[in-house]
Parts: sequence; structure tokens; C-alpha cells
Amino acid sequence: MTKTLLITGGCGFIGANFVHRILRQYPDYRVINLDKLTYAGNPANLADIADDERYRFVHGDIADVATVEPLVAEADCIINFAAESHVDRSILGSADFLHTNVNGTYVLLDAARRHGIERFHHISTDEVYGSIAEGHWDESFPLEPRNPYAATKASAELLVRAFHLSHGIPTVVTRASNNIGPYQYPEKRVPLYVTNAIDDKPLPVYGDGLQVRDHLYVDDHCSAIDLVLHKGTIGEVYNVGGQNDVTGIDVAHAILRQLGKPEALIQFVEDRSGHDLRYALDSSKIKALGWTPLVGVDEAMERTIQWYVDHQDWWRAIRDRDDYKAYYERQYGDRLK
Ligand code: NAD
Ligand code: DAU
Repeated sequence: MTKTLLITGGCGFIGANFVHRILRQYPDYRVINLDKLTYAGNPANLADIADDERYRFVHGDIADVATVEPLVAEADCIINFAAESHVDRSILGSADFLHTNVNGTYVLLDAARRHGIERFHHISTDEVYGSIAEGHWDESFPLEPRNPYAATKASAELLVRAFHLSHGIPTVVTRASNNIGPYQYPEKRVPLYVTNAIDDKPLPVYGDGLQVRDHLYVDDHCSAIDLVLHKGTIGEVYNVGGQNDVTGIDVAHAILRQLGKPEALIQFVEDRSGHDLRYALDSSKIKALGWTPLVGVDEAMERTIQWYVDHQDWWRAIRDRDDYKAYYERQYGDRLK
């Protein structure tokens, strides 16, 4: 059946992987990609499908009502990936996070209220729960975000919930763990470490490197979104985690091992302020819906590292930009001295 999906933030890491998946899996679907092309938005991520007649790119801001209104009127479903997504940047300054993650989500919800929509799928994160020393969060745990990025993602979720309950918007929410894979902007740990290691630059490990994250291969996240978009129960929230606990220091070692680089590249640096100790999701609910992650944690890491080895033009174009260099200096200049 033909459907028009309004995908926001499709030029970013996960959004681009999801656009690829939709065009591959659903020959009858049309995709409108609304993206502001912030520092993290990269048209090169979708260069291979740019001329596909089922695909349309709109350059614009999800917080701009005039841009959003006609696109929502045209769409059957909205999948909202657009966000400011980097914790360290949210600690340096939070205004863009409030603008996009909170106000932008509100503008999309309000347009959905006016025009009616089959489904509003909001992409959220495990960070909304805060930090958990032991055990796993299921979807009934309270939202206790601990950094500005996470607080704006939790705020967006509360708006999604309120618009579902007050206005009957048919919403679903997925909360995923740390994605790795192709097209991730090299400010996030894994692509930062891989690209630094290739160039024999230091790998900055915050604090003692014992914080735990749950790595999820991006294709497995996209298959989960696909499933919930089509089969998830309206009004529900679904955790999407790989249950693959990895520490920072293990990640650094794995990357250096695969690239044949020396451990001396590891540098312990000043910790992230308010650094969350551990994220860990219980994903039984989405598994009961039929989701099975296909890529194990070791293979996910190997494939990801190899992608950056094979796509050096892609990331060197980003790392050569003045805005990347300025951010790197601001974030690591003092830490790595
Ligand atoms: P990203 O930073 O790589 O991409 C974000 C995209 O949104 C970019 O293309 C950017 O240009 C676009 N964008 C930003 N502000 C916009 C605006 N106002 N209007 C339109 N477009 C805008 O992010 P990502 O890592 O791909 O994350 C995508 C979504 O998934 C986010 O909502 C994030 O919170 C969530 N998430 C990410 C992870 C992860 O590990 N990366 C895990 C769980 C959830
Ligand atoms: O868990 C889901 C979240 O994962 C998403 O919602 C976010 O959008 C995404 O950015 C990611 O957040 P993290 O803060 O967990 O990812 P990041 O890659 O920034 O950091 C991963 C871990 O590595 C974290 O413990 C901090 C540490 N780290 C990070 C960087 C950039 C370092 O030790 N050194 C670094 O230079």
C-alpha cells in the first residue's frame, strides 16, 4: 500500500540509515526528508538515493510552522529523528537543544493535531531514564534525565504523551541505546576513536573509562523502528537495546586491536561533567512484538570500524571543516594538553 512518510533529520546518522531501509523494503512508499542540515546533517549520507523519484528532500527546520504545515498535511506518518544529539555539546550550550528537541517536536505534534495523521513515531533514547548502577530499565521506569540533551529528549517525550492523551494523536515512542554503524558523525565516541586512531591521534577516555554503554548496530535500531511504526500499539513506548554492556576502555582497546595501533594512543582525560555511569535497557516488550537484533556486539564493532576504514573521504571531508576543528579544540584542547 502506498504511504507517504515524513522523516525528519534524515540526513543524520540514524535517519539516513532508516531512509535507506524504507526505500529498500517498501517499493510503494514515498519519503519526504525534512532536515535543517545542521553541522550533523550531511547530504552525502543520502547521495545514492537523491535522484530516486520516491524521495524528496526539503531543507528546513522542524520548529518552523510554515515549513512543517504543508508537509504534515501531505504525510500519512511522521517519524521524528531530528534532534541535537550530542551530550557534550549540550553541556557546552543547551539553546539549540531546546529549540529543536522540545519546540521542534511541539511544532510537529501541533501540525499533526490540525491535519490528522496515521502515526507519529517519536525517536527517543535510553538517556531519558538517567543512569542505572545495576539491573535494566523497563518502560515503566520514571524519566530522570541527568544532562541537558537527555532533559530535552525527556521533555519531548512528555509532549508526545500529552498530545496523545489530550488530542488523540496516534503516537508511538522508541527509546534506543547507543547506536554504532555507518554515517555517524565523528564527534561520538566510536567514530571519533576510529578516525583518530587511523591518523595516530590520541583516543580521549573520559574519567576512568569504566562507564557502561549498550551498543546497538544501527540496522537493528532501524528494523525496530520499522516494526513499531507498522505494528506497535498506539500510545505505547518501546525500549530498543542490544543488552551488550561495554566499558569505555574496552571500546578503545577493541578499536586499537582491529586497526593494529598501539595502546599508547589511549589518553585518560578530564571526565564529562555529570557523566552517566551506566545505561541498560530491558527490551522484552519489543522482542514480544517480534524484534530480534541480528548483529552481535563484536560484529557490530568490526563492521563499524571497517566502514570508517573504507570511507575515509566521507569522514575526512567532515574533519577538515573549520566548524569541526573549532569544536574539537573547544572540547579537547585543554583535555589533551
Ligand atoms: P544526528 O545528530 O546524527 O542527526 C540529527 C539530524 O537532525 C541531522 O541531520 C540534523 O541536520 C537534523 N536536525 C537537527 N536540528 C534540526 C531541525 N531543527 N530541523 C530539522 N532537522 C534538524 O543524530 P542521530 O545520532 O542520527 O540521532 C537521531 C535521533 O535518534 C535523535 O532524535 C537522537 O536523540 C536519537 N537517538 C540517537 C541514538 C544514538 O546512539 N545516536 C540513540 C538513541 C536515540
Ligand atoms: O544512549 C543513547 C545515546 O547515545 C544517544 O541518545 C545520544 O544521541 C548519543 O550521542 C549517545 O550518547 P552518549 O553520551 O552515550 O555517547 P558518546 O559517544 O558521546 O559517549 C559514549 C561514552 O563514551 C560515554 O560514556 C562518554 C564516553 N566518551 C565520549 C567521548 C565523545 C569518552 O570517554 N570520550 C569521548 O571523547
